[in-house]
Amino acid sequence: MDATREALIREMEAYFGGDTKRINHAHKVTEYAEELLKREGGDYSIVIGASVLHDIGIHEAQKKYGSTTGKYQEKEGPPIARGILTGLGFEQSQIEEICQIIAHHHSPGKIATKNFGILYDADWLVNLSDEYDIQDRNKLNNIIERVFLTQGGKALASEIYLQLPRSEGVFGGDE
Ligand SMILES: [Fe+2]
Repeated sequence: MDATREALIREMEAYFGGDTKRINHAHKVTEYAEELLKREGGDYSIVIGASVLHDIGIHEAQKKYGSTTGKYQEKEGPPIARGILTGLGFEQSQIEEICQIIAHHHSPGKIATKNFGILYDADWLVNLSDEYDIQDRNKLNNIIERVFLTQGGKALASEIYLQLPRSEGVFGGDE
């Protein structure tokens, strides 16, 4: 495992404490983001930083507003991420980009970069079955076309949710 990735995961787990639901979610999103990095290109450090830390504001949102809704997470996440990334020696420009992605990760259309698209799609790959009824294949096709931003995200969503052949066995576990 990449040392930076490992350090980010350690910081995220320490921050979330006993909240295994959030920790597992961050792991899954990061794994999908890694697969999308292979398919789409994108900057590894930016995408991994944003993936591991994208929901890091969720506890603070709950504490301050009694709500974990997207806009509060987007507001509370960046300062926490900034502290973690600074501590890990990320460059200023990297920190800015990662924090921008976190600040908009429920608001597509505001950042048009590949790095944003990968994190956004990786999050949706994990969340799709919670947010939509995925039983109807025709509807699901339309949902996938509408929701995902990258071609790799659409393809991977079809592989996972429409059960087309998967490319590699990296999606088996829940960790
Ligand atoms: Fe998420």
